[in-house]
Amino acid sequence: MTEPTRRTAIVTGAARGIGAAVAERLAADGFAVAVLDLEESAARRVADRVEAAGGRALAVGADVSDEAAAEAAVRRVADELGAPAVLVNNAGIIRDNLLFRMSADDWDAVMGVHLRGSFLMARAAQAYMTKAGWGRIVNLSSTSALGNRGQANYAAAKAGLQGFTKTLALELGKFGVTVNAIAPGFIETEMTAATAARVGMDFEEFKRAAAAQIPVARTGRPEDIAAAVSFFAREEAGFVSGQVLYVAGGPKA
Ligand SMILES: NC(=O)c1ccc[n+]([C@@H]2O[C@H](COP(=O)([O-])OP(=O)(O)OC[C@H]3O[C@@H](n4cnc5c(N)ncnc54)[C@H](O)[C@@H]3O)[C@@H](O)[C@H]2O)c1
Repeated sequence: MTEPTRRTAIVTGAARGIGAAVAERLAADGFAVAVLDLEESAARRVADRVEAAGGRALAVGADVSDEAAAEAAVRRVADELGAPAVLVNNAGIIRDNLLFRMSADDWDAVMGVHLRGSFLMARAAQAYMTKAGWGRIVNLSSTSALGNRGQANYAAAKAGLQGFTKTLALELGKFGVTVNAIAPGFIETEMTAATAARVGMDFEEFKRAAAAQIPVARTGRPEDIAAAVSFFAREEAGFVSGQVLYVAGGPKA
């Protein structure tokens, strides 16, 4: 008996936080999942969890902002796991500072991972998707796209990803590929823990302060974002493209 066909998904920045939850959710949904992150050993822990739960996973170490590395990673996934049908551009970094203190290196680093990285990964993955006549690309934007003090670089990158998403939706739609963005609000991860540390606040206190500003009166969890990705990746979401879904516990941050 042959194995039932399992589509392959690539999740970038999947060694922890939102990306890890997305990888585990897509595996539970039936996708073979490439867990891509800077360090293969960190990605392997998530891939092992996926396999222990009965899924299929491959840990891939790559820097998404490096053209050769991004292309090699996508090729490796196609060879070892299957042609990528879903790409979740989730890898991200923050280099926060007020404009007058922001270095050009901190500007470039943030643009490099979020914008250049998403572009390189999407360009490499679309070749397989358009050939198959089916694909799903989901880009991680943020409520910071609407403006956030201390995040000129990150807000510009996250707003840029929204334009990128809509443009790819226009270009790839006729090939059966949808492209959407998710803009999370406050999600409990190492990224928000690092922000709390930077402003000198205890993480629990920081979360309580954030929750007080959120209509559903709690902060978000990685699973909240994974559920939204799961929807966009589905067969039945094929008529939804070029959208930005704010997953923020209310209409805005
Ligand atoms: N946590 C939040 O509140 C929040 C809110 C809005 C948007 N987001 C976005 O969601 C995504 C995930 O955030 P998170 O909170 O889980 O972050 P995180 O810091 O917990 O995890 C990010 C992961 O990306 C990886 N990564 C960074 N640079 C990379 C590169 N060049 N190549 C490959 N992997 C790389 C890191 O190693 C890490 O494992 C990011 O794009 C972030 O900007 C997060």
